[in-house]
Amino acid sequence: MASLSLMFSSIKPFSYYSTKLTTHDMESSSFLAGGKRISTEKKNTILSRKVVFGSPRLSISNVASRPTPVVALPKQGIQTNYEKLVAWTSVKQERWQGELQVQGQIPLWLNGTYLRNGPGLWHIGDYNFRHLFDGYATLVRLHFDNGRLFMGHRQIESEAYKAAKKNNKLCYREFSEIPKPDNFLAYIGDLANLFSGASLTDNANTGVVKLGDGRVVCLTETVKGSIVIDPDTLDTLGKFEYSDNLGGLIHSAHPIVTDREFLTLLPDLINPGYLVVRMEAGTNERKVMGRVNCRGRPAPGWVHSFPVTEHYVVVPEMPLRYCAQNLLKAEPTPLFKFEWHPHSKAYMHVMCKASGNIVASVEVPLYVTFHFINAYEEQDEDGRVTAIIADCCEHNADTTILQKLALQDLRSFSGQDILPDARVGRFKIPMDGSPYGSLEAALDPNEHGRGMDMCSMNPAFLGKKYRYAYACGAHRPCNFPNTLTKIDLVEKKAKNWFDEGSIPSEPFFVPRPGATEEDDGVVISMISDKKGEGYALLLDGSTFEEIARAKFPYGLPYGLHGCWVPKT
Ligand SMILES: [Fe+2]
Repeated sequence: MASLSLMFSSIKPFSYYSTKLTTHDMESSSFLAGGKRISTEKKNTILSRKVVFGSPRLSISNVASRPTPVVALPKQGIQTNYEKLVAWTSVKQERWQGELQVQGQIPLWLNGTYLRNGPGLWHIGDYNFRHLFDGYATLVRLHFDNGRLFMGHRQIESEAYKAAKKNNKLCYREFSEIPKPDNFLAYIGDLANLFSGASLTDNANTGVVKLGDGRVVCLTETVKGSIVIDPDTLDTLGKFEYSDNLGGLIHSAHPIVTDREFLTLLPDLINPGYLVVRMEAGTNERKVMGRVNCRGRPAPGWVHSFPVTEHYVVVPEMPLRYCAQNLLKAEPTPLFKFEWHPHSKAYMHVMCKASGNIVASVEVPLYVTFHFINAYEEQDEDGRVTAIIADCCEHNADTTILQKLALQDLRSFSGQDILPDARVGRFKIPMDGSPYGSLEAALDPNEHGRGMDMCSMNPAFLGKKYRYAYACGAHRPCNFPNTLTKIDLVEKKAKNWFDEGSIPSEPFFVPRPGATEEDDGVVISMISDKKGEGYALLLDGSTFEEIARAKFPYGLPYGLHGCWVPKT
């Protein structure tokens, strides 16, 4: 397996620009209070007191302080009329950090750091990348400290990013971008590197997780793209080295991480299947829990994410399957490293965590999903598990979602439908030996504007029956995720937050310590607005009303996934 499972590079799921600030702007600390620039001399004074403006709801408690020196990026690529679409425009500079002004009130219990990862740099010199998922990883940090908010962002120093900066060209295979060989011999060498895995990217631009032992790791779909970072400084500390001999070059970009363990899937491209592996907190060694043999062919289905229940791991086998041949091509194919095989059908497998045995394997309707939301067990009156319920953000089995996340399409966004409609897809997997499972919308997709992705939920309900999911939804007539939505899976209703012209990123739920209600907490998101600017946004998890926002020094690109690092 070893060498061929090498063949897969990164797939990153889902996952803009402002008026230009000069270096001088940044160094002069650049934050405005009531529309007036605050001088450096006044900053410390203002820092020590709260300034309340006309509106009783608007209070400015802090100002930016001590911005980091600007580090120049490679020469910016082509600037066009999409310049203000800050979500899809490379980050302005490699790093920044400082304190933000807060409008509203940050709950005093919210102490810790929200980290968000995502592709934030889509060019090398004058060469512009084509797809959202190609960008070099940009980490953003929101640090909450007794009502104050500190922000920072920084590029992850992957080998792929460092090589691009040094050589001013693409050096590793990204999602759709492939290094151009200088000659035929170089081409042959590139193929050899592909089979060895050497040419695969380590651009960890998809997610970030806090392991049970406190280490914070950025991830993508290549195993080599597991990179340890410092959540306080955003320093790149080095590769996360797995100490086992499991091999393989790809894994799910979304492991299930708890204080006790790290669960993930390793696709086997030679004998189509998946290894379900577990890594105990405090170790670097993955151990095999069990194996799922694929029922369809010719290759395993893409497993960007998967869900678990309290006692089971649910392994999806999607008809969007890995394709080694596509990887060998010099130019992207419509489905990139995948192929759609509807004739080989779609399946869901259930593995017992304790034994590693497959306890259910059912055919289900065709589906396309990047992200599972959660799963749980249904029981009868005697406590026997009768079915597994697994929810995901489902794109109506329409694979064009992958192509439509090309930057050119995103930058030409007109406010109309541009993506396949999406829904909360609810699988029901019977546990009585039945050969078929079902897939239906958990609620009317019009509740969330027929857009749906980038989900989160209360982590205390992982694998358990739950009621609320938070996601990016859509505001009709557009189905591109331009809202934040709170979905009530019991009442089958959604509450939506919408700011016209803005693109929000993943709404991340943080429960209030000691909370007893599932939705008692806050939802954190980062917004890229129509003026090319950006801000952090806090919504009340229960009412879904805004409780605070804080403007960034400049708009940031769209991001993908985050994690919460509580204050210790
Ligand atoms: Fe993802």
